[in-house]
Amino acid sequence: MNRVEGKVVLITGAARGQGRSHAVRLAEEGADIIAVDICADIATNDYALASEADLAETAALVEKSGRRAFTRVVDVRDRRSLEQAIAEGVAELGHLDVVVANAGICALGHHVPIQGFVDVFDVNFMGVVNAVHTALPHLGAGASIIVTGSVAGLVPQTGFNGVQALQGPGGDGYGLSKKMLRTYTQSLALTLGPSSIRVNAIHPTNVDTDMLNNPGMYQIFRPDIQNPTREDAEVTFPFMQAMPIPYVEAADITHAVTYLASDESRYVTGLQMFVDGGAALKLGLAN
Ligand SMILES: NC(=O)c1ccc[n+]([C@@H]2O[C@H](COP(=O)([O-])OP(=O)(O)OC[C@H]3O[C@@H](n4cnc5c(N)ncnc54)[C@H](O)[C@@H]3O)[C@@H](O)[C@H]2O)c1
Repeated sequence: MNRVEGKVVLITGAARGQGRSHAVRLAEEGADIIAVDICADIATNDYALASEADLAETAALVEKSGRRAFTRVVDVRDRRSLEQAIAEGVAELGHLDVVVANAGICALGHHVPIQGFVDVFDVNFMGVVNAVHTALPHLGAGASIIVTGSVAGLVPQTGFNGVQALQGPGGDGYGLSKKMLRTYTQSLALTLGPSSIRVNAIHPTNVDTDMLNNPGMYQIFRPDIQNPTREDAEVTFPFMQAMPIPYVEAADITHAVTYLASDESRYVTGLQMFVDGGAALKLGLAN
């Protein structure tokens, strides 16, 4: 308990899924939370994104553990609004110590228009950069930046070791953004090392959230049948991992986030941490 006592943590995409899981756990461990989310859908992304009610629920869960929650509806593509939200959050909560750049979308499939590439790249790469760069002026020695990547996103766009790249313009945007996050976090870790600010990336395999559990994703995993169900998809979900699991839970990613947010990892920087049941190793993407 109290592994991040007194810290203030910014989390993007905090209304549900992994972001909410991080917010609740970090609050239980003693942190106050600045929680932002778009709380609206993006037209090229087939599954629904979070709602304002979801973001309010995250705040309620944070407050239940006796910590403070500052929420704002913000699209991470909108750097100005993000800058303002962070400034207001810091004014209210006092300081900023940890950034969890987690917001993301995954618009897969060959039916997705070219705009899907733009949207996914802008949210998953530019949105991370916006969050980190607008937070930077508030961060000091001992701060920790944690970026959410993806094992599936690291598969080369031409496919690799018999594994297909993610499909369609949105898949290309997803892959490019997650690959760029790998080099971005490594470069930034070197740049911020002398300031004792750490930068690490977590690359999950399938995670049991709405991004994975939606009809479009089921179809990607089961192209052989029409309108596959979750049960149908769960037959092929395990193919990515070395371990016999279909996915990890959001809580598994949160364990890693908690470690990287805490001072336990005070000399860990530039790490590409795979929380993936051995998926990156199996697919030949670990190095
Ligand atoms: N679920 C998986 O299988 C999986 C696997 C690997 C990596 N990831 C990554 O994990 C991260 C979290 O995804 P998740 O699994 O919790 O999915 P999710 O869809 O449940 O959560 C994503 C959250 O981000 C928010 N969001 C989307 N676009 C936004 C924007 N422009 N501005 C602000 N908020 C926005 C959504 O509203 C939602 O609350 C993403 O970066 C994703 O790429 C997910």
